[in-house]
Amino acid sequence: MTGFSVMKYPLIIRDFFDSSTIENQRSNWFFLKNTSCFTRKTMALRTIIAHFVSKNIFFLVMVMFSGLFWPIITLAHFSPSFGRYYYAILIRVFCSIEDDKTLRQELFACLQPNLRILEVGPLDSSLGLLPKGSKMTTLELNPLLQIKRDQVAKMYPDIVIENILVGNIEDVRQVLPQGNCFDVIICTHVVCCIKNKEKAVKEMHRLLKPNGRLLFLDIVMYDKKLNPLSFWLQRLLHPLHRFVTLGCRAGGYDAEALISRNEFDVSGLKYTFDDSKPFPYQTYYYGSGVKM
Ligand SMILES: C[S@@+](CC[C@H](N)C(=O)[O-])C[C@H]1O[C@@H](n2cnc3c(N)ncnc32)[C@H](O)[C@@H]1O
Repeated sequence: MTGFSVMKYPLIIRDFFDSSTIENQRSNWFFLKNTSCFTRKTMALRTIIAHFVSKNIFFLVMVMFSGLFWPIITLAHFSPSFGRYYYAILIRVFCSIEDDKTLRQELFACLQPNLRILEVGPLDSSLGLLPKGSKMTTLELNPLLQIKRDQVAKMYPDIVIENILVGNIEDVRQVLPQGNCFDVIICTHVVCCIKNKEKAVKEMHRLLKPNGRLLFLDIVMYDKKLNPLSFWLQRLLHPLHRFVTLGCRAGGYDAEALISRNEFDVSGLKYTFDDSKPFPYQTYYYGSGVKM
């Protein structure tokens, strides 16, 4: 499909065929190799799957409409333990496709060494980008996606892991009762997955020290005026996306309104559109919100 003149196609079709150039994949591979705390074999598999999925809309459609896919997702909705496995695999594939390291580097540029940081739903995407001496606490809902202390210590010796917690940011008082204790909270691609977003952002506000920063990154809605076709298709596919991802509302909520009404200064947050990413993951809201 790479021989197609991509300019002839509407953005949405072009996105699928053109999203993962060889160059992108090379840099993705390089990034995974240097930041992931998983084995080389797993990384290779992730990269191959990501490349294959993002280049082959027909493969995706075929899998979705094959007899197997729907029973698996339905089971994942009804069985929490199976759902955890399903979600863990799905998230690994999605995160390999996202490849948003440039945004992350920009996001983390404001970090100073030796800060107390809480990362919500961390996986391993940010660890390689944190400054020396960062004192990390991580909070993850799915125990299968927990980071491993010994692997992190081996790969990122400059980071201090203070706590690795299993828990829900919505009800985090049980594991983190004390407020005003973090300089920074990192929350990338997580709020879209949270059921009660209001409660979660309130909790993050409580946990931050005065003037503490919320480093936020998430996929949001397309601009109706700039990309009407993508906007409406995103709306149309949203229920399907939620079903397949067990409730993720990427592109389906107003991140700016959510953060600003919970007493954060949002002047450091902005929208960006990246047409090198696959549809519907092209519109981001990201930056640093300051606790007021
Ligand atoms: C899409 S992944 C993002 C991973 C990583 N932050 C990144 O940017 O690549 C979302 C992660 O947030 C976790 N998560 C979802 N809801 C959560 C909640 N309520 N509390 C804590 N973690 C949550 C998920 O289990 C998953 O690991």
